[in-house]
Amino acid sequence: MSTLQPTPEDKFSFGLWTVGWQARDPFGDATRPEVDVVESVHKLAEMGAYGVTFHDDDVIPFGSDTTARDERIKRFRAALDETGLVVPMVTTNLFTHPVFKEGGLTANDREVRRFAMRKVMRNMDLAAELGAKTYVLWGGREGAEVDVAKDLIASLDRYAEAIDTLAQYSEDRGYGLRFALEPKPNEPRGDIFLPTIGHAIAFISKLQHKDLVGINPEVGHEQMANLNYTHGIAEAIWLGKLFHIDLNGQHGPKFDQDLVFGHGDLLQAFSTVDLLENGGLNGGPTYDGPRHFDYKPLRTEDMDGVWRSAAANMRTYLLLKERAAAFRADPEVQEALAAAKVPDLRTPTLGEGGYEELLADRSALEDFDAETVAQRGAGVTRIDQLMIEHLLGAR
Ligand code: GCO
Ligand code: MN
Ligand code: MN
Repeated sequence: MSTLQPTPEDKFSFGLWTVGWQARDPFGDATRPEVDVVESVHKLAEMGAYGVTFHDDDVIPFGSDTTARDERIKRFRAALDETGLVVPMVTTNLFTHPVFKEGGLTANDREVRRFAMRKVMRNMDLAAELGAKTYVLWGGREGAEVDVAKDLIASLDRYAEAIDTLAQYSEDRGYGLRFALEPKPNEPRGDIFLPTIGHAIAFISKLQHKDLVGINPEVGHEQMANLNYTHGIAEAIWLGKLFHIDLNGQHGPKFDQDLVFGHGDLLQAFSTVDLLENGGLNGGPTYDGPRHFDYKPLRTEDMDGVWRSAAANMRTYLLLKERAAAFRADPEVQEALAAAKVPDLRTPTLGEGGYEELLADRSALEDFDAETVAQRGAGVTRIDQLMIEHLLGAR
């Protein structure tokens, strides 16, 4: 099964913080040693990934002086040059240091907001140097536990001010970055601003630089809110706003599990891959950006388990891609889809005569027999089972 060997053409990328997670959680200490980013770059390249992404602090520890900073960047760049891995996306850590406990770009304290903005701008300089195309903003600390301890309207003003300023900075410096906001409903804050794909997209429409800003939706974050991830990214694709993607796994509404992709809601992982790979107008891809994994290797694992989990993300994606292709190519599936009128949805509801023709069409209302039409089965169960059979390798 050679197609299951990841190659750079598959565009798989990983956050350095994923394999580098030492598995410290709110109840327990780290279970694994620190991982050198140089080792991560080499391992991921050997496994067939094409890119790595990072927060500033993943590569340059918070508070490093200029000499230490330059040294860290040099080592990291050398690893990229040796392996040919690219850096398609970069982001900022505005959540770990206690200075961000009440927020970063939307902190009540203006000094903190100005520091947060400078921290992002400094890392945008590095992102541009490394050739990144996308800059992600995940506002983990942008939110509140106590509604009345935050001016909720002013926070959106400050959030918009920050994003527009960063976009302007990128334009003025010729960085050509596109910005991707990453929604999440809660955790670490009790409530995070821009909690879902829909909230984020609506927010973007008010920005001055709305064309430069899209979203980076994460599987588990939508599912934590009991929302359907595939439906969410479909809307983002429709609006031209799917700038980047965070793939992982989650078992419904509970804490952010950040499981391996497909190790949570597998059926939704199937529909996600099917949409990304086969959902375009002519059955082609809908998204050509990196297939980025943002997950946490289970806290139970040693380093061997960490590398296995990294490989598992890519292999699961490729398996689902293969299963989705087999599903689409199956004549019985095509027949079932046609019987359920799935392809008919692409036909506009109005004819060439617009609504005048619709008004003149007696079969659309006066002679329409709702009782008879209501008796038609929609044929959805057959499709569901065919999907399951393909997913289980039974067809
Ligand atoms: C999470 C988030 C983060 C962000 C990342 C980028 O799991 O809550 O996904 O991992 O994606 O920090 O800033
Ligand atoms: Mn997450
Ligand atoms: Mn993420």
